[in-house]
Amino acid sequence: MRARAAIHRDFRISNIDDRLYSAFIEHMGRAIYSGIYEPGHPAADRDGFREDVLKLVRDLQIPAIRYPGGNFVSAYKWEDGVGPKESRPVRLDLAWRSKETNQVGINEFATWAGRAGIEMMLAVNLGTRGLEEARNFVEYVNHPSGSYWSDLRRSHGVEKPYGVKMWCLGNEMDGPWQIGHKEAKEYGRLADETAKALRGLTPDAELIVCGSSNDTMPTYPEWERVVLEECYDNVHYISLHKYFGNNRKDTLNYFGKIEETGRYIQSIAGVIDYVKAKKRSRHDVHICFDEWNVWYHRRQEDSRRVKEWDWPEAPDLLEEDYNVEDALFVAGLLNEFIRRSDRVRIACIAQLVNVIAPIRAERGGPAWRQTIYYPYQFASLYGRGQALRVSVDSPRYDCEAADDVNFLDMAAVHDPAAKTLTLFILNRHLDETLELDAALAGFDAAQLVEHRVIEGHGRLEETNGPEAPDRVAPRQGSGLGVEDARLVGRLAPLSYHMVRMR
Ligand code: AHR
Repeated sequence: MRARAAIHRDFRISNIDDRLYSAFIEHMGRAIYSGIYEPGHPAADRDGFREDVLKLVRDLQIPAIRYPGGNFVSAYKWEDGVGPKESRPVRLDLAWRSKETNQVGINEFATWAGRAGIEMMLAVNLGTRGLEEARNFVEYVNHPSGSYWSDLRRSHGVEKPYGVKMWCLGNEMDGPWQIGHKEAKEYGRLADETAKALRGLTPDAELIVCGSSNDTMPTYPEWERVVLEECYDNVHYISLHKYFGNNRKDTLNYFGKIEETGRYIQSIAGVIDYVKAKKRSRHDVHICFDEWNVWYHRRQEDSRRVKEWDWPEAPDLLEEDYNVEDALFVAGLLNEFIRRSDRVRIACIAQLVNVIAPIRAERGGPAWRQTIYYPYQFASLYGRGQALRVSVDSPRYDCEAADDVNFLDMAAVHDPAAKTLTLFILNRHLDETLELDAALAGFDAAQLVEHRVIEGHGRLEETNGPEAPDRVAPRQGSGLGVEDARLVGRLAPLSYHMVRMR
């Protein structure tokens, strides 16, 4: 089968915001405890942070990380996690019916994020709490000194304020499962007032208001309209969340959900434009896709376990084993984010360690990379610069999730500083090779410098694990070459390619 594509150096979508490759970590399961923090582990540093995990995290070059939740934040008291560790209370976390020991709080997390080289993006509790506590938290985190909360931070040994800019105004407030769930207008009003207070303390804060928990919520997309009409001029981003799976064992439909996500982004962009026009505003609101990932392998089993268990401490929860099919899906989804990077400025893989995560770590044992680690890493490392428009002419298919889905999926990023052009390419066909001919206008001298591939044909179910941590890993690609500003060659069925040219 033949597939053609064309890009042009001057035809850009956007300057990609590096934060498109951010992550999320929540106090739940073994994400924090025995994930990033495990005093006594052979690889733990002086503060109990696992160096083996930190190494895998650093290799991803993650720009920003959302913390501490998630559903957890909606009943969280941040004050429980500061001050001497021995006096911190153990609390019952209502979101995941677990015990929270509070041995990691904002100051420990900031230390970890600093060691990982990642900027923090913090969420405030607008479920059980409100404006007053949010204000106090921002004062503790960002105010230099001379006030009650900033001096409390200093008394905890943190002299300098953290200067956190990104603040999430609650989490999934549209969801009936959320502790302190709200109606759209009620939440929009609270978000607006909280936003004003937070910006009073941190004038350059970037505020993220909650959109729908996913595009199947009954209140979607009316929720976004009502919320934005309340707070549009005081916020900078609206959040989108979406988790994916292949429950029906229909690979093409699974991949079609990438197109479905494009429609989701487009619809919310339309709501933003509508509210902006209605308000005659000059202010722009962008999209922060701050929870996305594959979550289905153990989802039902885990929701049953959570209901039955007796408030365990750091239980094994949502520890999905990702396979090659999931890696191809994640690669395609990241392509969609690059193509929509004019509207999606921030996106967070959910989550980072153990809980629906690219990195897994056994308690007292090794850490390893899951299959999805690699497309995320390639996008983070090489997907920075200018997103270019890609025209694709490829055979197509229809599925329940979307019609007219191209078997060829491609995103292109030009980094003028590094003088590189990177293509992320997916052949979604189940059993046909695609003969690719991609015109690279304006890249006359381009030479292939790197080609890495993950092949899925006959191995969609393969996973990595402690016994075989590198069973699935990208290998050196072959069969593609650059001739006269054209990338030509063969793409095996169910294969993902990262192709760099200079
Ligand atoms: O990431 C797991 C959970 O998914 C988060 O706590 C919540 O925000 C979402 O529903």
